Amino acid sequence: MDNNPSIKRGLKDIYIDTTKSSYIDGNAGRLFYRGYDIDELANNSTFEETAFLLMYGNLPNKEELENFESELKQARRLPDNIIEIINHIQSSHPMDVLRTCISALSAFDIDVDDNSRESNLRKGIRLTAQAPAIVAAHDRIRKGQKVISPDDNLSHASNFLYTLLGEIPDEEDGKLLDKDFLLHAEHGLNASSFGARVTASTQSDLHSAVTTGVGILKGPSHGGAAESVMKMAMEIGEPENTQDYINDLLNNRGRVMGYGHRVYKSIDPRAIHLRDDAKKLGERKQQTKWYSILESIADLMVPYSKKGICQNVDFFSGAIYYLMGISEDLYTSIFTMGRIPGWTAQVMEQFEKNILIRPRLFYDGLLDIKYIPINNRD
Ligand SMILES: CC(C)(COP(=O)(O)OP(=O)(O)OC[C@H]1O[C@@H](n2cnc3c(N)ncnc32)[C@H](O)[C@@H]1OP(=O)(O)O)[C@@H](O)C(=O)NCCC(=O)NCCS
Repeated sequence: MDNNPSIKRGLKDIYIDTTKSSYIDGNAGRLFYRGYDIDELANNSTFEETAFLLMYGNLPNKEELENFESELKQARRLPDNIIEIINHIQSSHPMDVLRTCISALSAFDIDVDDNSRESNLRKGIRLTAQAPAIVAAHDRIRKGQKVISPDDNLSHASNFLYTLLGEIPDEEDGKLLDKDFLLHAEHGLNASSFGARVTASTQSDLHSAVTTGVGILKGPSHGGAAESVMKMAMEIGEPENTQDYINDLLNNRGRVMGYGHRVYKSIDPRAIHLRDDAKKLGERKQQTKWYSILESIADLMVPYSKKGICQNVDFFSGAIYYLMGISEDLYTSIFTMGRIPGWTAQVMEQFEKNILIRPRLFYDGLLDIKYIPINNRD
């Protein structure tokens, strides 16, 4: 037995492979998808175009984008059996419903056993379109409302809002959610992408890898943080309560959700976009209180930010979803919808030069223990 292995708990700062999908410069607070600065994409692109960029590796020309958008639209309708499954498990958490339905969709996907690049592109497009359909259908079914058919005149983000809330969203809400999806689309070897890659490394398939990703993203240390931030803002209730609440939390070694990151040691560039958007949205909806509470938390966190514990993407996204009228337990599912192109890109990368991901654990238990028959045990 190796008695002195170098153990890197949590795989902190360990590089396990190379990638061309995204690059995070954690010290400078910059993020690139396929070489494009996230600010360039957030200001100029759309979720659909960025999803193409991630999956295919380059920006589409006009015709390619039209075809891609049309493939997404064709995949928006769910098989009846999936609606039936949702009916059966409607009281479960939306992330559990999403995970179960994505897994179940493999049964209806003609490409399920084909791990070629072309097949994974087709499956990635379908899953990107199907995830919002599952979330919207589930939310309506559990609220006793009718499932709404997609509207092919609407973009990916606007169609999600329409099928969820039952009204054609105003243009600004649609654009804002589009940007939110874009900002969540890919992010290096985060826990869920790592999990998706581990699944792919066994030569499993994209549905299994995405199912893994959804299960991992659910946790509050990862995608679940947006829901926790909004819960915290609601518990605070009014901006003047913030100081007592946050001091109490930090004095009890609690964590301020939406702060801190394994890679970023300065502000997450995605949070900067969402901060400005959350402020404008609050003003547009005449509900400025939530932004004020978040801002007052940010003021109190300045000493932490100076130590590298800064705002991450989840700090403002919850307030945005809340102001759009989206139920709080759907926030992680919205993150998931944005992330499917990134998982697809990374799973394809894993398949392209596959190696089984199989690290080791250092055993620190006892050895050679004598077996005692059950009747002789204390
Ligand atoms: C994201 C996160 C899990 C990263 O964790 P990590 O890289 O393993 O860093 P650690 O958990 O080791 O934290 C390092 C130190 O910073 C502190 N810290 C990290 N995040 C903090 C937060 N949000 N609030 C207060 N303190 C925090 C830890 O208490 C720890 O302090 P210590 O060294 O005195 O014990 C962590 O920052 C966190 O729990 N954040 C809140 C949840 C969140 O917003 N998640 C979404 C991420 S996109």
